[in-house]
Amino acid sequence: MRQAALVLAVLAGPAAAQGFDAVGALFADRCVICHSGEDAPLGLRLDTREGVLAGSENGPVVLAGDPASPLLQRLRGEAEPQMPLDGPPFLDRDQITMVEAWVMAGMPAGAAAPSPAADRRRPAPGEQVLWPDVQPIFLKACIKCHSDNSKLGAPPEGLRLDSLENVLKGGHRLAVLPGNPEMSEIWRRVTGLATPRMPFDGPPWLPDEDIRLIRDWIEQGAPDADGTKAPIPTGARIRLRGVLTGAAEIDGAGFVIDSGTRVDDRPRIGDQAEMRGVVQADGSVRAERFRDR
Ligand code: HEC
Ligand code: HEC
Repeated sequence: MRQAALVLAVLAGPAAAQGFDAVGALFADRCVICHSGEDAPLGLRLDTREGVLAGSENGPVVLAGDPASPLLQRLRGEAEPQMPLDGPPFLDRDQITMVEAWVMAGMPAGAAAPSPAADRRRPAPGEQVLWPDVQPIFLKACIKCHSDNSKLGAPPEGLRLDSLENVLKGGHRLAVLPGNPEMSEIWRRVTGLATPRMPFDGPPWLPDEDIRLIRDWIEQGAPDADGTKAPIPTGARIRLRGVLTGAAEIDGAGFVIDSGTRVDDRPRIGDQAEMRGVVQADGSVRAERFRDR
């Protein structure tokens, strides 16, 4: 059936006639947010026909006339993870047939030469950082594991990083405390302060510039695309393990110790310490337990 459908598609030839134009438009819509720029996954850029033909660091992804081309297998879900990685929804049958027909026809060029997608905006230090500035980092480096399309089967620790809502919701534990990067597990993981360091399949780790962007975004209140800060997750629980860097501070993350805090083996500066606490309405963290480890 599939072979017959392919032959028909090639004979009908809409994709062959349009060359890369229709395929390029589809890729621009569904692939290029990740597959462009210097940090394109596996070096695979899909914003121009040249990029598609150049393939990835594993080699070619389209082979003229070969329905088993790696890119087609990814679209059909025969190779995992299925593409587009931020699906579902994945491509529908007609869209896949169109890409198949283009490959079967030998990847003809289009009438319009698409220009490469602009590399993503990286606000300079001191500038405002919005969700759309950090979203591509999570899409390119994290969601192959941290989404429902996870190659691990399920997102680890229940943490999905595929939307602002899910990043703020966190997994089994809080991932972001708006306004406070040191208390935020995401920042602690990408710097390696908390282990295992992320991305789990690194090195390479995130470039310093991306780590700085994540930090600035959290520090500025984890704003959405319009600049509206995220709400404080009052009542969320936090567990911090690391080096005591101040009387009530682990790895630079300060908290409040009061008469209600249970302190065991009070740690000294430089010791390994653990704090379990609760986020207060003003964004501070009140320690319930504090101890030496
Ligand atoms: C949300 C980000 C994202 C989107 C959108 C996306 N991809 Fe990917 N893609 C990735 C990542 C990350 C990998 C690497 C996965 C891995 O390491 O296993 C990948 C891998 C691939 C590969 C495998 C390359 C190889 O050498 O094995 C192909 C082919 C591919 N993508 C094609 C596509 C196509 C075609 C689309 C659009 C229809 C698309 N991708 C959309 C993130 C994305
Ligand atoms: C190859 C799969 C993979 C990738 C890619 C990946 N992670 Fe993870 N992540 C994991 C696994 C597995 C764990 C659980 C590890 C553990 O704590 O034992 C985890 C745990 C985490 C945690 C801790 C969650 C908690 O509640 O304890 C955070 C935060 C996190 N990842 C963020 C990220 C970020 C940010 C990225 C991208 C920069 C990323 N991860 C990329 C697999 C991955």
